[in-house]
Amino acid sequence: MAGRWKNDLGWSDVTPKAAFLNRRRLMAGAGALALGGIAGPALAKLGAMPSRYSTDAAPNSLEDISSYNNYYEFGTGKDDPARNAHTLTTTPWTVKIDGLVDKPGDYSMDDILSGVSLEERIYRFRCVEAWAMVVPWVGFELADLLNRVGVQPSAKYVAFETLMRPEEMPGQRRAILDWPYREGLRLDEAMHPLTILANGIYDEPLPNQNGAPLRLVVPWKYGFKSIKSIVRISLVEEEPHATWNVTNPREYGFYSNVNPEVDHPRWSQATHRVVGGGLFAKRVPTEKFNGYGEEVASLYDGMDLAKLF
Ligand code: MTE
Repeated sequence: MAGRWKNDLGWSDVTPKAAFLNRRRLMAGAGALALGGIAGPALAKLGAMPSRYSTDAAPNSLEDISSYNNYYEFGTGKDDPARNAHTLTTTPWTVKIDGLVDKPGDYSMDDILSGVSLEERIYRFRCVEAWAMVVPWVGFELADLLNRVGVQPSAKYVAFETLMRPEEMPGQRRAILDWPYREGLRLDEAMHPLTILANGIYDEPLPNQNGAPLRLVVPWKYGFKSIKSIVRISLVEEEPHATWNVTNPREYGFYSNVNPEVDHPRWSQATHRVVGGGLFAKRVPTEKFNGYGEEVASLYDGMDLAKLF
């Protein structure tokens, strides 16, 4: 695929202080890896660069991040994905990009990653079920890919689809959800620099249970928007089908921005539990937009977020 990283966030934009903080974070990440008992050189494989968008918060261990998952294609228990997702074949992998784009096509992972600068993005991650983690993702801005394929002016939304392969995904043999898992973003949300496609965690390729080889991460929205193992990205005019929203629109809105002021009909969203904090750890107050309000609140100016939740 032609074209290169078009975004203008380069090293020259990063202040020395931010660079220092980021180095410190990378080292903290390396320390966490060592504590997690993972052998081998830290920061070995993907070579991600630090990013000014990373949080200062200490990342969860790789063990936490890869053993407590939601990935219903591999079962509904939190430990089912870690147990079952090894059956997923992730190479070769093709992502169909279609709809209102100048260069539609079937893109291989090599096409998608060629010319991309991988960054480490340490993001807070808040599930709608009121648990949270801090994850050191590796990835690149979705906007970079969308700019390379050329978004046409009539496109208003981006639709995403997960792989449909029941022979490798045991959950898909049962009607737990209306497979394949689908999600969507408004175009301005998709183009926001915080929105990334991730192909790694802790500078290593994504574990299958976390959505290998390529998944979306939208840190100011509830985790279910961050769709895993993506095989199709479509630029469309109308608000796309989103699995949880369509399954239960009263409980899961299309936007699903993290919002402590709007409770889930069955539980409060005011606080959450940090995974890895132990059974008796105190709950933590949830922040609006998961703490990313300064960056994203303006996307929703004039919208009633209690109605369009
Ligand atoms: N994507 C697919 N295809 N299938 C899923 O079941 N679960 C979602 C989201 N993406 C899900 C998915 C939910 S509810 C959450 S909280 C996050 O993935 C969990 O991501 P993690 O397991 O990497 O923490």
